[in-house]
Amino acid sequence: MNKKIAVIGAGNVGASCAQYLAEANLGDIVMIDIIEGFPQGKALDLTQAGPVRGYNCMVTGSNNYKDIKGADLVIMTAGMPRKPGMSREDLLAMNADIVGAAAKNIKKYAPKSFVIVVSNPLDIMTYHMMKVTGFSTNRICGQAGILDSTRFRAFVAMELGVAMTEVHAMVMGGHGDTMVPLPRYTTVGGIPIKELISAKRIKEISERTRLGGGEIVKLLKKGSAYYAPAAASVDMARAILCDEKRVFPCSAYLTGQYGIKDIYIGVPIVLGGNGVEKVLELKLNASESKALKASAVNYRGVLKEIGY
Ligand code: LAC
Repeated sequence: MNKKIAVIGAGNVGASCAQYLAEANLGDIVMIDIIEGFPQGKALDLTQAGPVRGYNCMVTGSNNYKDIKGADLVIMTAGMPRKPGMSREDLLAMNADIVGAAAKNIKKYAPKSFVIVVSNPLDIMTYHMMKVTGFSTNRICGQAGILDSTRFRAFVAMELGVAMTEVHAMVMGGHGDTMVPLPRYTTVGGIPIKELISAKRIKEISERTRLGGGEIVKLLKKGSAYYAPAAASVDMARAILCDEKRVFPCSAYLTGQYGIKDIYIGVPIVLGGNGVEKVLELKLNASESKALKASAVNYRGVLKEIGY
Protein backbone atom coordinates (compact mmCIF):
# COMPACT_ATOMS: atom_id res chain seq x y z
CA MET A 1 0.00 0.00 0.00
CA ASN A 2 1.21 3.50 -0.80
CA LYS A 3 2.30 5.70 2.06
CA LYS A 4 -0.11 8.51 2.89
CA ILE A 5 1.24 12.04 3.11
CA ALA A 6 -0.86 14.96 4.34
CA VAL A 7 0.10 18.49 3.38
CA ILE A 8 -1.59 21.10 5.56
CA GLY A 9 -2.06 24.30 3.59
CA ALA A 10 -2.50 24.41 -0.20
CA GLY A 11 -0.82 27.77 -0.69
CA ASN A 12 2.44 28.21 -2.54
CA VAL A 13 4.58 26.15 -0.16
CA GLY A 14 1.95 23.41 0.29
CA ALA A 15 1.19 23.06 -3.41
CA SER A 16 4.90 23.03 -4.31
CA CYS A 17 5.43 20.31 -1.67
CA ALA A 18 2.60 18.29 -3.21
CA GLN A 19 4.13 18.69 -6.66
CA TYR A 20 7.62 17.61 -5.58
CA LEU A 21 6.19 14.74 -3.48
CA ALA A 22 4.18 13.48 -6.46
CA GLU A 23 7.14 13.75 -8.82
CA ALA A 24 9.21 11.74 -6.34
CA ASN A 25 6.39 9.13 -6.20
CA LEU A 26 6.64 9.13 -2.42
CA GLY A 27 3.03 8.20 -1.71
CA ASP A 28 -0.58 9.34 -2.01
CA ILE A 29 -1.02 12.95 -1.07
CA VAL A 30 -3.91 14.78 0.55
CA MET A 31 -3.82 18.58 0.69
CA ILE A 32 -5.90 20.31 3.38
CA ASP A 33 -6.89 23.96 3.25
CA ILE A 34 -9.69 26.09 4.70
CA ILE A 35 -10.58 27.72 1.38
CA GLU A 36 -13.34 25.75 -0.32
CA GLY A 37 -12.36 24.30 -3.68
CA PHE A 38 -8.75 25.48 -3.40
CA PRO A 39 -7.03 22.25 -2.35
CA GLN A 40 -9.44 20.22 -4.48
CA GLY A 41 -8.64 22.28 -7.59
CA LYS A 42 -4.89 22.13 -7.09
CA ALA A 43 -5.04 18.39 -6.36
CA LEU A 44 -7.01 17.67 -9.52
CA ASP A 45 -4.59 19.74 -11.57
CA LEU A 46 -1.62 17.86 -10.08
CA THR A 47 -3.32 14.50 -10.69
CA GLN A 48 -3.82 15.41 -14.32
CA ALA A 49 -0.12 16.26 -14.67
CA GLY A 50 0.70 12.68 -13.59
CA PRO A 51 0.49 10.90 -16.95
CA VAL A 52 2.82 13.48 -18.51
CA ARG A 53 5.24 13.81 -15.60
CA GLY A 54 5.28 10.05 -14.99
CA TYR A 55 3.81 9.63 -11.54
CA ASN A 56 1.00 7.37 -10.40
CA CYS A 57 0.17 8.53 -6.90
CA MET A 58 -3.22 9.93 -5.99
CA VAL A 59 -3.40 13.62 -5.14
CA THR A 60 -6.59 14.75 -3.41
CA GLY A 61 -7.73 17.94 -1.71
CA SER A 62 -10.08 18.50 1.20
CA ASN A 63 -11.36 21.15 3.61
CA ASN A 64 -11.80 18.57 6.34
CA TYR A 65 -9.03 17.36 8.61
CA LYS A 66 -10.66 13.94 8.89
CA ASP A 67 -9.24 13.20 5.45
CA ILE A 68 -5.71 13.07 6.87
CA LYS A 69 -6.80 9.93 8.73
CA GLY A 70 -3.98 7.43 9.03
CA ALA A 71 -1.35 9.65 7.38
CA ASP A 72 2.21 8.37 7.79
CA LEU A 73 3.68 11.82 7.42
CA VAL A 74 2.33 15.34 7.71
CA ILE A 75 3.94 18.47 6.28
CA MET A 76 2.62 21.53 8.07
CA THR A 77 2.81 24.55 5.78
CA ALA A 78 -0.32 26.56 6.67
CA GLY A 79 0.14 30.03 8.10
CA MET A 80 0.52 33.61 7.04
CA PRO A 81 3.66 34.43 5.06
CA ARG A 82 5.75 37.54 5.71
CA LYS A 83 5.21 40.86 3.96
CA PRO A 84 8.15 43.17 3.21
CA GLY A 85 9.58 44.65 6.41
CA MET A 86 8.17 41.88 8.64
CA SER A 87 10.31 39.46 10.62
CA ARG A 88 9.25 35.82 10.91
CA GLU A 89 8.51 36.49 14.59
CA ASP A 90 5.88 39.08 13.58
CA LEU A 91 3.73 36.13 12.48
CA LEU A 92 3.77 34.60 15.94
CA ALA A 93 0.24 35.04 17.31
CA MET A 94 -1.61 34.38 14.06
CA ASN A 95 0.36 31.31 13.12
CA ALA A 96 0.36 29.89 16.65
CA ASP A 97 -3.45 29.61 16.39
CA ILE A 98 -3.28 27.97 12.97
CA VAL A 99 -0.55 25.51 13.99
CA GLY A 100 -2.29 24.76 17.31
CA ALA A 101 -5.54 23.87 15.54
CA ALA A 102 -3.71 21.69 13.02
CA ALA A 103 -1.80 19.96 15.80
CA LYS A 104 -5.02 18.94 17.57
CA ASN A 105 -6.33 17.42 14.36
CA ILE A 106 -3.06 15.67 13.58
CA LYS A 107 -3.15 14.14 17.05
CA LYS A 108 -6.73 13.02 16.50
CA TYR A 109 -6.58 11.69 12.95
CA ALA A 110 -2.94 10.80 12.36
CA PRO A 111 -1.66 9.81 15.80
CA LYS A 112 1.16 7.69 14.38
CA SER A 113 2.48 10.24 11.93
CA PHE A 114 5.79 12.05 11.66
CA VAL A 115 5.41 15.80 11.31
CA ILE A 116 7.62 18.23 9.41
CA VAL A 117 6.82 21.82 10.33
CA VAL A 118 7.41 24.58 7.79
CA SER A 119 5.15 27.35 9.18
CA ASN A 120 6.92 30.40 10.60
CA PRO A 121 8.36 31.41 12.99
CA LEU A 122 9.71 27.97 12.33
CA ASP A 123 11.50 26.86 15.47
CA ILE A 124 8.71 28.20 17.66
CA MET A 125 5.95 26.57 15.62
CA THR A 126 7.80 23.24 15.71
CA TYR A 127 7.95 23.39 19.51
CA HIS A 128 4.26 24.34 19.60
CA MET A 129 3.41 21.36 17.35
CA MET A 130 5.32 19.01 19.67
CA LYS A 131 3.58 20.37 22.78
CA VAL A 132 0.02 20.30 21.37
CA THR A 133 0.29 16.87 19.73
CA GLY A 134 2.24 15.45 22.65
CA PHE A 135 4.16 13.34 20.10
CA SER A 136 7.64 12.16 21.02
CA THR A 137 10.29 14.64 19.90
CA ASN A 138 11.84 12.28 17.33
CA ARG A 139 8.54 12.42 15.38
CA ILE A 140 8.45 16.20 15.10
CA CYS A 141 11.06 18.31 13.36
CA GLY A 142 11.22 21.60 11.54
CA GLN A 143 12.38 22.39 8.07
CA ALA A 144 14.76 25.29 7.93
CA GLY A 145 18.38 24.22 8.05
CA ILE A 146 18.23 22.55 4.64
CA LEU A 147 16.68 25.69 3.17
CA ASP A 148 19.23 28.00 4.77
CA SER A 149 22.06 25.66 3.76
CA THR A 150 20.81 25.31 0.20
CA ARG A 151 20.79 29.10 -0.08
CA PHE A 152 24.40 29.11 1.14
CA ARG A 153 25.25 26.31 -1.34
CA ALA A 154 23.67 28.17 -4.23
CA PHE A 155 25.51 31.42 -3.41
CA VAL A 156 28.86 29.60 -3.11
CA ALA A 157 28.25 27.79 -6.41
CA MET A 158 27.35 31.11 -8.09
CA GLU A 159 30.50 32.70 -6.65
CA LEU A 160 32.81 29.96 -7.96
CA GLY A 161 30.93 29.04 -11.14
CA VAL A 162 30.74 25.38 -10.06
CA ALA A 163 27.88 22.86 -9.95
CA MET A 164 25.44 23.56 -7.11
CA THR A 165 25.50 19.91 -6.12
CA GLU A 166 29.28 20.01 -5.51
CA VAL A 167 28.78 22.43 -2.62
CA HIS A 168 27.89 21.18 0.85
CA ALA A 169 27.10 23.62 3.60
CA MET A 170 26.00 23.77 7.19
CA VAL A 171 23.77 26.45 8.66
CA MET A 172 22.75 26.00 12.28
CA GLY A 173 20.66 27.99 14.74
CA GLY A 174 17.15 29.37 14.46
CA HIS A 175 15.49 30.11 11.14
CA GLY A 176 15.71 33.88 11.46
CA ASP A 177 18.19 36.68 11.76
CA THR A 178 20.11 34.78 14.44
CA MET A 179 20.89 31.81 12.18
CA VAL A 180 24.50 30.66 12.17
CA PRO A 181 26.08 29.91 8.77
CA LEU A 182 29.20 27.80 9.32
CA PRO A 183 31.81 28.40 6.59
CA ARG A 184 34.19 26.05 8.45
CA TYR A 185 31.82 23.17 7.63
CA THR A 186 31.18 24.29 4.05
CA THR A 187 33.03 22.52 1.25
CA VAL A 188 33.23 22.37 -2.53
CA GLY A 189 34.02 18.88 -3.77
CA GLY A 190 35.44 18.22 -0.29
CA ILE A 191 37.61 21.39 -0.29
CA PRO A 192 36.94 23.84 2.56
CA ILE A 193 35.63 27.10 1.06
CA LYS A 194 38.22 29.20 2.84
CA GLU A 195 40.79 27.76 0.43
CA LEU A 196 38.76 28.98 -2.55
CA ILE A 197 36.99 32.18 -1.48
CA SER A 198 38.38 35.23 0.37
CA ALA A 199 37.38 35.79 4.00
CA LYS A 200 35.63 39.03 2.99
CA ARG A 201 33.48 37.33 0.35
CA ILE A 202 32.67 34.43 2.71
CA LYS A 203 31.39 36.99 5.21
CA GLU A 204 29.25 38.65 2.55
CA ILE A 205 27.86 35.32 1.34
CA SER A 206 27.08 34.28 4.93
CA GLU A 207 25.24 37.55 5.46
CA ARG A 208 23.26 37.14 2.23
CA THR A 209 22.31 33.63 3.41
CA ARG A 210 21.16 34.93 6.78
CA LEU A 211 18.89 37.43 5.07
CA GLY A 212 18.04 35.09 2.17
CA GLY A 213 14.34 34.70 2.94
CA GLY A 214 13.89 38.45 3.33
CA GLU A 215 15.60 39.09 -0.01
CA ILE A 216 12.89 37.03 -1.71
CA VAL A 217 10.07 38.64 0.32
CA LYS A 218 11.33 42.04 -0.88
CA LEU A 219 11.35 40.91 -4.50
CA LEU A 220 7.95 39.18 -4.44
CA LYS A 221 6.35 42.02 -2.41
CA LYS A 222 3.55 39.75 -1.27
CA GLY A 223 4.39 36.36 0.12
CA SER A 224 7.65 34.58 0.71
CA ALA A 225 9.78 31.92 -0.95
CA TYR A 226 8.25 28.56 -1.77
CA TYR A 227 10.22 26.50 -4.29
CA ALA A 228 13.30 26.06 -2.10
CA PRO A 229 11.32 25.65 1.15
CA ALA A 230 9.19 22.96 -0.51
CA ALA A 231 12.20 21.21 -2.05
CA ALA A 232 13.86 21.11 1.36
CA SER A 233 10.70 19.72 3.01
CA VAL A 234 10.37 16.96 0.44
CA ASP A 235 14.02 15.93 0.96
CA MET A 236 13.16 15.51 4.64
CA ALA A 237 9.97 13.59 3.79
CA ARG A 238 11.93 11.18 1.60
CA ALA A 239 14.55 10.66 4.31
CA ILE A 240 11.83 9.61 6.75
CA LEU A 241 9.60 7.60 4.39
CA CYS A 242 12.52 5.75 2.77
CA ASP A 243 14.59 5.44 5.98
CA GLU A 244 17.53 7.13 4.26
CA LYS A 245 19.45 8.22 7.37
CA ARG A 246 20.43 11.49 5.68
CA VAL A 247 22.49 14.01 7.59
CA PHE A 248 20.73 17.37 7.49
CA PRO A 249 20.56 20.49 9.57
CA CYS A 250 16.95 20.57 10.84
CA SER A 251 15.09 22.15 13.71
CA ALA A 252 15.29 19.44 16.38
CA TYR A 253 14.51 19.22 20.07
CA LEU A 254 17.60 19.59 22.24
CA THR A 255 18.02 18.01 25.64
CA GLY A 256 21.39 19.49 26.57
CA GLN A 257 23.35 19.07 23.33
CA TYR A 258 25.44 22.20 22.62
CA GLY A 259 24.59 23.28 26.19
CA ILE A 260 20.98 23.99 25.12
CA LYS A 261 17.81 22.32 26.28
CA ASP A 262 14.01 22.32 25.94
CA ILE A 263 13.97 24.20 22.68
CA TYR A 264 13.78 23.42 18.94
CA ILE A 265 16.67 24.85 16.98
CA GLY A 266 18.65 24.05 13.83
CA VAL A 267 21.34 21.41 14.37
CA PRO A 268 22.74 18.57 12.25
CA ILE A 269 20.72 15.41 12.70
CA VAL A 270 20.39 11.92 11.26
CA LEU A 271 16.94 11.72 9.67
CA GLY A 272 15.54 8.27 8.93
CA GLY A 273 12.61 5.92 9.36
CA ASN A 274 12.44 6.73 13.04
CA GLY A 275 12.42 10.48 12.40
CA VAL A 276 15.14 12.37 14.24
CA GLU A 277 17.37 9.40 15.01
CA LYS A 278 20.32 11.35 16.35
CA VAL A 279 21.52 14.88 17.00
CA LEU A 280 25.13 15.25 15.87
CA GLU A 281 27.27 17.37 18.15
CA LEU A 282 29.96 19.29 16.31
CA LYS A 283 32.95 20.77 18.09
CA LEU A 284 32.05 24.39 17.56
CA ASN A 285 34.67 27.07 18.19
CA ALA A 286 34.00 29.80 20.73
CA SER A 287 32.38 32.30 18.36
CA GLU A 288 30.21 29.65 16.62
CA SER A 289 29.06 28.30 19.97
CA LYS A 290 28.33 31.83 21.24
CA ALA A 291 26.22 32.58 18.15
CA LEU A 292 24.25 29.32 18.51
CA LYS A 293 23.57 29.97 22.18
CA ALA A 294 22.49 33.55 21.43
CA SER A 295 20.05 32.19 18.85
CA ALA A 296 18.64 29.78 21.45
CA VAL A 297 18.28 32.51 24.07
CA ASN A 298 16.34 34.59 21.54
CA TYR A 299 13.91 31.73 20.81
CA ARG A 300 13.48 30.90 24.48
CA GLY A 301 12.20 34.50 24.84
CA VAL A 302 9.82 34.14 21.90
CA LEU A 303 8.44 30.85 23.30
CA LYS A 304 7.50 32.70 26.48
CA GLU A 305 5.29 35.02 24.42
CA ILE A 306 3.01 32.10 23.58
CA GLY A 307 3.00 30.76 27.10
CA TYR A 308 5.83 28.21 27.12
C1 LAC B 1 12.08 31.70 3.93
C2 LAC B 1 10.79 31.61 4.65
C3 LAC B 1 9.78 30.80 3.96
O1 LAC B 1 13.14 31.62 4.56
O2 LAC B 1 10.95 31.33 5.98
O3 LAC B 1 12.05 31.86 2.71
